Amino acid sequence: MTSTAQPTASDAPPVADWVRIEDLYDDPYPIYARLRAESPVAWVPAVGRYMVTSFEACHQIEQDAETFSADEESSLMKRSMGHSMLRKDDPEHQVDRAAYGPVLRPKAIKETWTSVFEKNAEKYLAAFAAQGPGSDLHLGFAAPFAAENLREIMGFRNATQEDMQRWSQTLIDGTGNYADDPEVWAKAAASSAEADAAIDELVPLLSAEPDATLLSAVVNAGLTLPAIRANMKMTIGGGLNEPRDVLGTAAWALLSNPEQLAQVVADPGLWAVAFEEAVRWVAPIGMYPRQTTREVEIGGVTLPAGARLGVNIGAANRDPVQFEDPEAYNLNREKKPHLAFGGGAHFCAGTWVARTSVAHVALPKLFAALPNLRLSTRPAREGGWVFRGMLELPVDWD
Ligand code: HEM
Repeated sequence: MTSTAQPTASDAPPVADWVRIEDLYDDPYPIYARLRAESPVAWVPAVGRYMVTSFEACHQIEQDAETFSADEESSLMKRSMGHSMLRKDDPEHQVDRAAYGPVLRPKAIKETWTSVFEKNAEKYLAAFAAQGPGSDLHLGFAAPFAAENLREIMGFRNATQEDMQRWSQTLIDGTGNYADDPEVWAKAAASSAEADAAIDELVPLLSAEPDATLLSAVVNAGLTLPAIRANMKMTIGGGLNEPRDVLGTAAWALLSNPEQLAQVVADPGLWAVAFEEAVRWVAPIGMYPRQTTREVEIGGVTLPAGARLGVNIGAANRDPVQFEDPEAYNLNREKKPHLAFGGGAHFCAGTWVARTSVAHVALPKLFAALPNLRLSTRPAREGGWVFRGMLELPVDWD
């Protein structure tokens, strides 16, 4: 639906000046529920964006890339990582995206990467078990497992999983540096330079001798060096936290719902369902930006051209219009599409990496390796809204 009229008092988006970033970080869901009920598209001064919180409006945005551009002006992600596919529109986006295809397809995951995920799960589970009961599953297992998988898929044979974790966190902090903190920029710039140096060292080696990795694919697809660097850094930032966080969230949800855990253990086909419900329940990427290219009606309001949006898929995934009793983790709920992996042209390129490494490998191995795994008396903590996941997940076992 389009409108050429100026926004009038009745269809101008309301201002939600009661929303505070600290509250979003602690628990965004009551805020999303109120925003959705009051107006699913509202101007939120604290974040400098129109926040979109209903399933329908988020879906509308994902299906209309001409009106809702990913190429946001003055994007902090571009400043932190360079201009990757995630901030390009088609047809430029498709050039970069096509280069990723062969490495991340289900066939390649099955033939090349599943055995890597298995090896890494066994290695980091053994290290975690050695830390003893009471240890933090998030830092002790989920983080190094996700980082090492990504290191190998991307082909950083000249870096460690610890480098990947540091680069990922500092580059992400740069993309969210709305406070313009110089220390945050300095750390992001240092990681960017380290990652660039690692890429530059590998480019000639992979041109001469291609292999199955992502870096080899983009080098041999003929992408320019700035495009290679930007896409690699975006993937370091966007391919580590999410599998780490869904692993923690799914484990926490199952440990908090023993009857559902018993169901999954009795029927291993349900690990995939447990994973999908975990990304629905707590979307690891809770919000991503878009910018309007024209005046448009959405969610009952009119937005001007050039409006900066926050597409809150974390909120869309808890919209009661789409999901019954949405605040509950329930793997027996009616199967319906969720938006945790986005949609349209930018639909996540790493879904099969995430599904296979977490649902098919890590979760079953975790619950098989640690007998009577249970939550520790020290409470688990979760946080975030742009990215959301466990901050700490202390567990005990026999
Ligand atoms: C549970 C895990 C994951 C979730 C929930 C997730 C979520 C998302 C979402 C929501 C987007 C779209 C963002 C936007 O439109 O602005 C996206 C894009 C992307 N993801 Fe993932 N992701 C996950 C894992 C991964 C992994 C493991 C990788 C890499 C191995 C990866 C690589 C990418 C890439 C390259 C894009 C950009 C696609 C494009 O612009 O065409 N993701 N992801």
